[in-house]
Amino acid sequence: MEEDIKEVLLDEEQIYEVVKKIGTQISKDYEGKNLLLISVLKGSVVFMADLMRAITIPCKIDFMVVSSYGDKAVSSGTVKIIKDLDINLSGYDLLIVEDILDTGRTLKSLMEILKTRNPNSVKICTFLDKPDRRAVSLSADYMGTQIPDEFVVGYGLDYDEKYRNLPYLGILKREVYSK
Ligand code: IMP
Ligand code: MG
Repeated sequence: MEEDIKEVLLDEEQIYEVVKKIGTQISKDYEGKNLLLISVLKGSVVFMADLMRAITIPCKIDFMVVSSYGDKAVSSGTVKIIKDLDINLSGYDLLIVEDILDTGRTLKSLMEILKTRNPNSVKICTFLDKPDRRAVSLSADYMGTQIPDEFVVGYGLDYDEKYRNLPYLGILKREVYSK
């Protein structure tokens, strides 16, 4: 795997610092609230596992699997729910936990769906943000780091379902995905 990485963007220690900072902020902001972390599988699983342990207030967790309808052909960016939540959302303060905010289509659509279910609030926490690629107006409430418009893998993020288990975040060599 290592040989496919062009550059390490964040090593394990840097990731730890980033996650700790977000966890501290969330713990302050959600004190006394009814926090429910919603991890969007699979990309956010590593971030979720670290973030929940960096949060020092009580919270619950749940998981969703969504898929974007089509790709280039569909500009509406409607997501299809493959695995839904197990919890009734009324009364919860939702925090959607994502690996990366890219075009923003997935999260925008997901947020709209979740808002119809009567939660107290819905916010977004993303480990990475690629602002250059945004196609809809959406910004994260909590964000780890902004990254340039490069394809990154590791720390949960994949290319063709591979590299998720790399403990750091790296830029994938172009020749790997332009083959
Ligand atoms: P979008 O914001 O709706 O365009 O979709 C975000 C999703 O695209 C993420 O959850 C990732 O699965 C995927 N994605 C976007 N950029 C990257 C990247 O650089 N590496 C790996 N996956 C990415
Ligand atoms: Mg993903």
